[in-house]
Amino acid sequence: MGHKRKLEFVTPSRRYEIEIGDSLLELSGRWAKKCLGAAAKRVVVVSNLTVYALYGETVTTSLTASGFVVSHWLMKDGERFKTLASAEKLLEFLSHENIQRTDAIIALGGGVVGDLAGFTSAIYLRGIEYFQIPTTLLAMIDSSVGGKTGVNSAFGKNLIGAFHQPKGVLIDIATLETLPQRELTAGFCEMIKHAAISGTALLKKTDELLRKLEFDQNTEFQISNFRSEIAELIAANIAFKTKIVANDERENINKTSPKSRKILNFGHTLGHALEKVTNYRYLKHGEAVGYGILFAAELSKTLDLCGEKDVKLLNDVLHRVGPLPRLANIDEQEVFEAFRSDKKNVAGSLQMILLKGIGKPVIISANEIPHSAIRKVLKRFLQKWS
Ligand code: NAD
Ligand code: GLY
Repeated sequence: MGHKRKLEFVTPSRRYEIEIGDSLLELSGRWAKKCLGAAAKRVVVVSNLTVYALYGETVTTSLTASGFVVSHWLMKDGERFKTLASAEKLLEFLSHENIQRTDAIIALGGGVVGDLAGFTSAIYLRGIEYFQIPTTLLAMIDSSVGGKTGVNSAFGKNLIGAFHQPKGVLIDIATLETLPQRELTAGFCEMIKHAAISGTALLKKTDELLRKLEFDQNTEFQISNFRSEIAELIAANIAFKTKIVANDERENINKTSPKSRKILNFGHTLGHALEKVTNYRYLKHGEAVGYGILFAAELSKTLDLCGEKDVKLLNDVLHRVGPLPRLANIDEQEVFEAFRSDKKNVAGSLQMILLKGIGKPVIISANEIPHSAIRKVLKRFLQKWS
């Protein structure tokens, strides 16, 4: 099968297309025109210096050729710049450029750019259209679809945000070829998150691809040889996410069934806490989620929810994504405190996403779990990975 795929994202608020393929950036102008219609005159490409230097010109040329007046706004590169202060600067730029409600933003980059651009689109003039052109594996399979947007703040990650669905998502898998290996590792961790809660079929498919890529500590992922498989796996991940979000677009706080959107936060309780206690500088988001998956699996086993076999399977698949930075000098108490400010807190209690087995997520209030069990597993976990 070729690299091309077209998926539809259908939620109560919006229906949009996700195109996956090779060398699609050249077609971004035509694609934006088709999605936006004739009224849109101006587009602002939001990106960062790294990504814009690689792909900004291709996208701008294509947009210009399709008749758009194009300007660009570049943020600094890094999770720590996904802030209200950056959003405010972008708002000022949009206002200065006299961007109207018929105009649009194009987010060109990874999840940081996508979340910030999406959030700013949600609040500028009470909402304008935006597109996602994700250029990291993580953004392709997760952050660019589903409409969660937001920024970090001193009191936690992604705690300021809005649900705002994009007008369309364009995934050019060729952009993965310039992505640093560590970012690929981070993206594969998020893929394993989806697989763990989706079921053995997706986990097997992910594992098969990782085996083909033959990553070990001395080699690099050779993704150019496996474009078709990667496109297929990206599509499978998006299809899974689509199904969950269609049922629970705004993550209903009262929903605790395995169909709740909350399950997509699997691995994020420890993941977000680790990012927070390391000031968003040490771990990539996906790497933190990788640790979070293993921690949630360990805790599930300790609580007799799932068996040793499932924990081992997840460890084995995660092992294939490449090395995660060690967790040295992480203070257990600080991590525990960070759990408390997690946005999955409902009515004062943290909701943990655990596993009854592969593909069997369960949402449990931390009140129902003995604190001593969480502390014990956390201590052992941090020691093991230090
Ligand atoms: P990122 O956006 O920081 O990108 C990682 C790095 O790769 C950056 O340095 C970037 O400049 C660089 N880069 C991007 N594309 C490149 C390319 N093609 N070639 C070379 N370099 C490239 O990180 P990320 O992992 O994409 O996203 C993480 C963010 O996504 C976090 O803020 C996380 O909270 C958010 N997120 C949001 C959702 C959601 O549903 N909205 C879901 C998951 C994660
Ligand atoms: N990444 C989690 C969600 O979209 O809900």
